[in-house]
Amino acid sequence: SGSAGSGSAGSGAGASSADAAPRRVGMVPTMGALHEGHLSLVRAARAENDTVVLTIFVNPTQFDEAADLAAYPRQEERDAALAAGAGVDLIFAPEPAEMYPSGFATTVRVSGALAETLEGAARGAAHFDGVATVVSKLLLAALPDSAYFGLKDAQQLLVVRRMVADLGIPTRIVACPTSRDPDGLARSSRNVRLSAETRSRALAIPQALEAAIDAVGSGERDAGRLVRRAEATLAAAGLAVEYVAIVHPETLETVHRVDTTALLAIAARAGEVRLIDNAILQRA
Ligand code: PAJ
Repeated sequence: SGSAGSGSAGSGAGASSADAAPRRVGMVPTMGALHEGHLSLVRAARAENDTVVLTIFVNPTQFDEAADLAAYPRQEERDAALAAGAGVDLIFAPEPAEMYPSGFATTVRVSGALAETLEGAARGAAHFDGVATVVSKLLLAALPDSAYFGLKDAQQLLVVRRMVADLGIPTRIVACPTSRDPDGLARSSRNVRLSAETRSRALAIPQALEAAIDAVGSGERDAGRLVRRAEATLAAAGLAVEYVAIVHPETLETVHRVDTTALLAIAARAGEVRLIDNAILQRA
């Protein structure tokens, strides 16, 4: 429920009518199959805005594997109930034909290391083209004051920040911390596809991140050694490693020594399910 109480003291100095009070709009873009990670973004938006818009759109152009798109969980009614419970005012859930009408011919591309390394290399350049294009359309559709993105997808957040700055979209991009299950696994819509067995293997991902944080805390600076140790942890758990990388947290360029702050990013498959996670490594 919004709180546009008429007659309440407006926050705008000199506001003479209810219309003059600015109504801040926050947007949380998602692909649905909502979980606690998404809801943590909604709560952040709720705390800072008068109106919270949730978007749900399984964006076909950012999927590089038809099987992944087909298997992507869809649970619209459950999502609507969770969203309402978390204080969402409005859900925008367009059909593909509404977002991509026939003749659609425009792509927003962020080029350079930001979009071409890590997920961009593993999934192909089309992935972030799809993300940048759909996020710019969603932002332009509502022009929210703020939009909320999870650090779980750290590279996506950086790509969106770059795109919004470059296109002059007047929306503040807010980074929200990664929400984890009690056992450490980062929450993800894809986790529902994990069996009990692959899920327990997947715990090697947060364990590898924690071990690297601890190693850096105890003085390890060599990125190569940190990467090899993480790869060994993942392989020992039977995960298929796609990449383990230590990069600059803003440019995503490879770093060789953890001298200040670096991002450790992991992509690995547990059975059929592709998982990503990351952590900031900070020199003690
Ligand atoms: P989706 O994977 O549904 O994620 C929607 C938002 O929730 C993203 O900003 C993502 O980083 C965030 N999120 C997911 N899991 C999280 C977790 N465990 N903790 C914190 N935040 C989490 O990311 C997308 O959808 C799409 O690419 C989208 C931006 C909607 C464009 O199609």
